[in-house]
Amino acid sequence: MSNYVIFLGSLRKESTNRQLAEAFIHHLPEGDTAAVFERLRDVPFYDQDLDVPGQEPDAARELREAVRDADGLVIITPEYNHTAPAVITNAIDWCSRPMGSGVLMGKPSLVMGFTPGPRALVGATAVLREALETVQAKCVATDYTWGDAYTLLDGRHPKDVDEVVGILNKAQAELAKLADATPDRVDPRAGGGIGAE
Ligand SMILES: Cc1cc2nc3c(=O)[nH]c(=O)nc-3n(C[C@H](O)[C@H](O)[C@H](O)COP(=O)(O)O)c2cc1C
Repeated sequence: MSNYVIFLGSLRKESTNRQLAEAFIHHLPEGDTAAVFERLRDVPFYDQDLDVPGQEPDAARELREAVRDADGLVIITPEYNHTAPAVITNAIDWCSRPMGSGVLMGKPSLVMGFTPGPRALVGATAVLREALETVQAKCVATDYTWGDAYTLLDGRHPKDVDEVVGILNKAQAELAKLADATPDRVDPRAGGGIGAE
């Protein structure tokens, strides 16, 4: 039984990636749960002056707690300018500190996404994998992304599209395997991250 937190990279109401998150939740194996962290838009830009133990901004503290308490992280996002949307990289920055004991250390992680463009998020996934590996998250071997997503969906919700559901099942099985193999607590003394405190 695993419980996952989802970072959603698109903030717009009609987001196809929000629909993909809904499909991810809908098709989880029985007993597993997942929820979108809905306060990403409230998390301020990372600022070391704000990151004072016990006085972190509320949304940043909730973000860290949500990731800490989850068995895995699922990033579901579009690509912006061949990189990842700022809400996602900002969340990773907050979760990467304190250096050496950030909540992403050892966290099983999966990246998925829809884009209407033809290149299927190659820029965003490269950036996210680099960042997640830097903070010593445990990434699923494959990123699961779709280009030309509006053509694929053709007005349907992704939870009803067989091709999407098949990939969701595969991605969920890979994430569950990593989560099952991960001890409850990761030793922060193992290090991780870049930069001086
Ligand atoms: C600032 C901005 C930059 C974008 N850059 C890219 C891009 O580099 N590659 C791409 O395929 N789509 C790009 N798009 C299109 C987005 O993928 C699309 O608008 C949308 O966000 C798809 O996700 P959503 O339906 O979940 O919002 C960009 C959109 C915006 C607003």
